[in-house]
Amino acid sequence: MFPREVISSGSLVLRAPAGVDAESIVMTCDDPVTAEFLPTLPAPYTLRDAHSYLAAAAAKWECGGAEFAITENGRYVGAVGVSEPDEQGTVEMGYLVAPWARGKGVASTAARAVAEWLFDRGVHRVELQAMVENIASLRVACKAGFTEEGRRRDAKLLRDGSRTDFIIFARLAHDSGESAPPYLPPFEGGELSDGVVLLVPLAPDDAGDFHRMLAEPSVAEYKLGPATTLEEDRRRCRYTGYWWASGQRIEVAVRDAASGAFAGHLQLMQVTPVLGQAMIGYSLRSAFRGRGFMTRAVRLLTDWAFANTVLHRIVAGTDVANTASQAVLERAGFSRESVLRELFPRPDGTRADDVEWVRLRPR
Ligand SMILES: CC(C)(COP(=O)(O)OP(=O)(O)OC[C@H]1O[C@@H](n2cnc3c(N)ncnc32)[C@H](O)[C@@H]1OP(=O)(O)O)[C@@H](O)C(=O)NCCC(=O)NCCS
Repeated sequence: MFPREVISSGSLVLRAPAGVDAESIVMTCDDPVTAEFLPTLPAPYTLRDAHSYLAAAAAKWECGGAEFAITENGRYVGAVGVSEPDEQGTVEMGYLVAPWARGKGVASTAARAVAEWLFDRGVHRVELQAMVENIASLRVACKAGFTEEGRRRDAKLLRDGSRTDFIIFARLAHDSGESAPPYLPPFEGGELSDGVVLLVPLAPDDAGDFHRMLAEPSVAEYKLGPATTLEEDRRRCRYTGYWWASGQRIEVAVRDAASGAFAGHLQLMQVTPVLGQAMIGYSLRSAFRGRGFMTRAVRLLTDWAFANTVLHRIVAGTDVANTASQAVLERAGFSRESVLRELFPRPDGTRADDVEWVRLRPR
């Protein structure tokens, strides 16, 4: 059983939840973000639910787990809970932060403090899991020194009856707990624009537009691999925030800045930190061609990458027959570098040469 202690970290004080927190707990749990990412909580969440939670929190301490209210200047700003250690010395952690206290490091500070408190009390492994779309929580795990270990597909039911994947993290007692800044930071302000095109993170709501674009014959002609179903494209669009936050790749919707219409898709993938290299790939709906949209988009993203990451080489590969794509790269400042012979398999069983392009980090 854990001792009922108070933990202090920076401006935060973590103590057992109490009746005085009830109204703040209601405001925290009766919130759309909380309801989305903690789908087992009652919705709407009432004062009665808060009192049931307080009783359960007290019982949790009795049963070998721990439940802390996170407070700042005496006010409730969130909670961290941990399960009773299993027979292997592993506990599971969960957290939430009040809407008025988010984005200020409360969850990551509290999660780190509780993990270290647990290690001091003999726990060997602290696990946590976050929904693949819960970018804030994925970032919290990294900032609190946890390491990503894998994913659980379709692990949890959402309120609408659909299922979602969870990403698993753990921190071990002997892990350093260090956290590195993200290799691919988010766009400042959430978007990038030159006034003509607008780049915004590809999101689940883009799945229909994305799927229709991939089905256009002029796009399908140069797409590698089999055609994807709408369901597969929906799943992909749910992953894009996680891929970005974990430094694996960036996927953006290219929009017409004037109308906001979905014009195309641009990605920075195959990120190889040891080489400082990544590859771009793109597709534009035929209705938006001939206006320089993709040239602008590629230039914007490449300029942003050199200004905001340590990438040194941004490369692109084009089918030798795809002269429109080669013109985009040339106009966006890329130079032709080499030819990889017979790289791209074609539907008719033949193979096409790949013309490779590069833009180097400006000196
Ligand atoms: C998840 C939650 C606890 C985070 O609390 P918080 O105190 O705001 O977390 P922190 O401030 O410590 O860190 C949040 C990080 O996510 C980042 N972030 C949030 N939304 C983001 C987004 N859409 N894209 C990229 N980064 C995002 C923030 O910028 C911050 O990272 P930074 O410090 O590197 O800039 C809070 O959002 C919450 O209570 N959500 C509802 C309940 C929940 O999801 N619980 C976790 C279940 S696993």
